[in-house]
Amino acid sequence: MSKNINYIKRESWGSSFGFIMAAAGSAVGLGNIWKFPYVAGENGGAVFLFIYLICALLLGFTVMLSEHALGRYSQKNAVGTFKEIAPGKKWWLIGAIGVLASFIILSFYSVVAGWTLAYVFKSLTGSLSGIPLTEYSSFFTSFISNPLEPIFWQSLFMVLTIFIVTLGIQSGIEKWSKVLMPALFAILILIIVRSLTLEGAMDGVKFFLSPDFSKINSKVILSALGQAFFSLSLGVGAMITYGSYLNKESHIPSDAFKIIILGVLVAVLAGLAIFPAVFATGMSPDGGPGLIFMILPAVFSKMPFGNFFEIIFFILLSIAALTSAISLLEVLVAFIKDKFNWSRKKATLISGFCAFIWGVPSSLSQGIWNKITFTLPGQDPMIFFDVMDFFTSNILMPIGGICVCVFTAYIWKTKNATWELSNQGKYTFAWLGFWSFLVKYIAPLVIFLVLLQGLGIL
Ligand code: TRP
Repeated sequence: MSKNINYIKRESWGSSFGFIMAAAGSAVGLGNIWKFPYVAGENGGAVFLFIYLICALLLGFTVMLSEHALGRYSQKNAVGTFKEIAPGKKWWLIGAIGVLASFIILSFYSVVAGWTLAYVFKSLTGSLSGIPLTEYSSFFTSFISNPLEPIFWQSLFMVLTIFIVTLGIQSGIEKWSKVLMPALFAILILIIVRSLTLEGAMDGVKFFLSPDFSKINSKVILSALGQAFFSLSLGVGAMITYGSYLNKESHIPSDAFKIIILGVLVAVLAGLAIFPAVFATGMSPDGGPGLIFMILPAVFSKMPFGNFFEIIFFILLSIAALTSAISLLEVLVAFIKDKFNWSRKKATLISGFCAFIWGVPSSLSQGIWNKITFTLPGQDPMIFFDVMDFFTSNILMPIGGICVCVFTAYIWKTKNATWELSNQGKYTFAWLGFWSFLVKYIAPLVIFLVLLQGLGIL
């Protein structure tokens, strides 16, 4: 009886367009607009972009198809999926790693999302205008190193995230994403136009688009793979969870392809918006996590109606962050709700609160705790925030990706996966054979090599 009720109650997407927008909403976030430009900037620009595109289109797509297929087949949360397909075995640990990774990502993600909310407020009150161009960096640094103010914005962001997830996400998020994602595109294009017409912009375009292959090294490759997984929300069960709300008629391969293209496109657009401006204003592309917060206000201050666009930009960025944070929290909630039989509300409040608390040291490590560093083997010393990011993006997510491939290929078997992906043979995709090959051999092997290299073992 209770099983029946659960089954009836299980939420599902309203339409395939709604699913694409929600999944793209998960993918498109701070990872594409905030993280991509600075990680690319620190890793040689165009070479990084090149490897990122290969990773996203080949490996990212392979893993995303597997995750969607697993979720839709099982109609379960990230852990439940593995229990359903391999009952009585330990494979559910893959899902558990994903839940842990989602928790950690949410903790530091909300810190940066808090910064974007603060910048909405600061641009509304005009405190970002009238600063000399060279002062935007120190303005940002002094803001994030302040012990209390960023934590206030982080908590506000978590309250918003928790609020929406408590309500049940589908109707709100589906509707919002359909309007806000196109608006985000429009604003990005506008900034690109301004950025490209600044004097000295072409050096930035060159940095971002013409690769110098001598700069390829293991760090660049590992970062590009980590970034591809992060920006597409892969390897932590988010796409399994979202896939589990799909109905059986949905068309996974074409939906997943559109989601990948949207995610990659926004990253490329963000790069085109930032790098020309970085070079034109004489800043350095390896400015780290503060890059967009230091560069964009400087660009806006040189634009007609700059303050207006600045407000809109940071609002949209906050919303992009919100749709992503929602998917991270949803991984936790879907799991906890089923596991402990808690209500959605209780599961959301408790897990959201814990993620907030775990995020506080990440925020403090930008300021008063920045002397406390951790040295992982083969890495430079890192502050707490960077450890959380490195551990998830460069370790847990690749491991999650490998495990998803191995599980799909050898436990569930590609035969069953292709049956699910083709809607029980209703559609035929010649390239599903190629996908099987990728998921069995290429993807796990390549991700594994990159992981080893990144850990300094190879
Ligand atoms: N993809 C999001 C971004 O680019 C971040 C994100 C949302 C995420 N959900 C995720 C990352 C799940 C990893 C896993 O900003």
